[in-house]
Parts: sequence; C-alpha cells; structure tokens
Amino acid sequence: MDLYILYYLFLLSLFGYFVAYHYPNMTSNVPDSTSSPPTRDPAEINKLVTELDDTSFYHHPSWSERWSHPDFVGVYWKNWLNSRWMEQRRRTKKFLYPSVRSNFPWGYITYRTVYNAESDELWPIAMDKLARVMNNSIDSDLHAKLESMEPEDLKDPQAVPDADAERLVKITHKDVVFSDKDFWDGASIEQVRQHFSEYLRASKGRGTGRFEGCLVIDERSLKSITDSPDPQPLLGGGSSKQPGQRWGFVGMIDGRYPENRYEPCYTGYMRVEIKSLWSLYLEFQSKDMQELCPSVPAGLIPVYDSGTGKAQDEEGNFHLTAADRRGVRLF
Ligand SMILES: *[C@@H]1O[C@H](CO)[C@@H](O)[C@H](O)[C@H]1NC(C)=O
Repeated sequence: MDLYILYYLFLLSLFGYFVAYHYPNMTSNVPDSTSSPPTRDPAEINKLVTELDDTSFYHHPSWSERWSHPDFVGVYWKNWLNSRWMEQRRRTKKFLYPSVRSNFPWGYITYRTVYNAESDELWPIAMDKLARVMNNSIDSDLHAKLESMEPEDLKDPQAVPDADAERLVKITHKDVVFSDKDFWDGASIEQVRQHFSEYLRASKGRGTGRFEGCLVIDERSLKSITDSPDPQPLLGGGSSKQPGQRWGFVGMIDGRYPENRYEPCYTGYMRVEIKSLWSLYLEFQSKDMQELCPSVPAGLIPVYDSGTGKAQDEEGNFHLTAADRRGVRLF
C-alpha cells in the first residue's frame, strides 16, 4: 500500500474521532432505522419536571406523549362501581380503587448503567422478562383464587372471578427508562441517586412506588435477570424454577438518603428480586424503603424478597441473616 493512502486513512480516522468525540450529539442524532430516538441530557429533563398534580395522570417529560387509554377517560372509575371485581378483595382491586388519578400510569424509574456488545443483546431479553414477571405477579392473587376453586365451580361463569382488575393494572403499567450510553455508561449508585433525588425535589412526589426508590440495572443485575426462572405459567404448572436457579434482581436506590436515615445501618441501597417488584410497589403505598429494607450484617447487600429478606455479597452469593438463624431458609 502506498504511503499516502495510509496517511489519508490516518487523517480520515482522526477526523472521525474528532467528530465523534467533540460532537456526540451530532453523531447520535443522525437518524437511521436502528438508533433510538434522539436523547436529551438527563439533567435537562429534570428541569422540565413539574410538581405532581393529583388530578392529572402521571407524566414524565422523557415520554414523547401523555399516557392515555380508552378505559381511562372522563369519570372512568364510576363504571367500576358496578363491576364484579369491585366486590373482590384482591390486591389489584385495592390498588385501583380508591386511588387518585396521578397514580396512573404506575411504574418505576429505571436506569441502565451497562453498555457493551453483550448487554445490547441481553437488554431487550431482560426487559421482556421483567414485563412478563410483572404481569405474572399482578395475576398472582387471581391465580391463587382460581387454584383454590373446585373444578365444578370453575364451570360456573358467575363463580369464576372476573379478571378485569388485573387487566386494568397491567394496562396502566408504564416505567420511565433511562437507557442512554452517553450519560449512564458505568454510572455509580451515587450518580444515579443524585439524578433521582433531583427529580424527587422537582416533582415533590411521594406515596407511590415510583418515588420511593428507583431501579438500577448494571451488568450483574442484567445477567441475573436473563438467568432468572421464567414466570410461572397459570394453573397447575408448578414453578419453573430449577434447583439452584435464583431469582434475578435489580438494584434499588433511595433518593432521600442520607437525609432521611433513622436506622444507623441503612445505606439507602438494596436489591429487589424481580418477582417482588409488584408487591413492593404495593407496600410503598404505606411504607418507605428504609422500613422495608431487610437488615443484614454490615458489608452485605440487603435483598428484598417480600419475606424476611436475604443478604448477598457484591457477586450475588447468599449469606445468613439474623432472621435466617432464627429459622430455616430455602433459597
Ligand atoms: C402484559 O399484559 C398486558 C395486558 O394484558 C399485555 O398487553 C402485555 O403484552 C403483557 N406483557 C408481556 C410481556 O407479556
């Protein structure tokens, strides 16, 4: 190869590097079919947050349009008063009614902090699994009810529970997801916390899961989700969890820490098993993260599992907690 070609290539790559490095917005905004929509500086997004208003549906400025659904127009809840599911005592009913408008759509604020070739492949798989696990947890009370019924009763349409409450909870689920390499690649817990607490100050939100803790998915969490058992199929399917297989987890960060600390051991951070994300959201209606965070020996990470909790090290190995020593635990 002639020397001048090498020289030309060198100049070209230097130019490319210069453009990519100095004008990240220019390169990331070039529209093509595979790129995600143009992203905004997350700090700027927080400046657009307005104080929460109980009488309007929840909106986050990173969403391209306001959430709406044909089942949620006008005085939508009046139609519910005559429905069969209103008489039922499942948690889905209690979540839907009574409830202020701003509780819908519901969901968590999630930050993705891993961006490499493998994670690009795993991310959509993990998002899909999280959505299926969430749907399955929403159905759990209904499934339990159906499983407790006699086969005879299942044939009677008047006896079979109406699944509309579960449907309404599923269609009102909408997370806020920050997935932008330019801003969140390798972000630390403290960086995410800072952004989330800025959001809390701007929105003054409180009392639903969205504001009690944000989710963070790093490399370890992402792999734990894709390795996690698939959600249990309806009725008699048994658990799809294999011996030794573990539930995937996400990190959860308290945006009011450390100002809110009253428990000396609380660090404002825990892991949550993905199967418990829906029940935790319900718990957040009356409790905060500090109250719900399991207490574990110093240096270990508390894991919320809807029960007495678990303790993990950074790598995800389990360790005994005080609650474990009092009883028997099956992982
Ligand atoms: C969860 O349920 C909703 C409502 O039925 C449905 O639209 C959605 O596709 C489901 N999600 C997954 C991943 O199965």
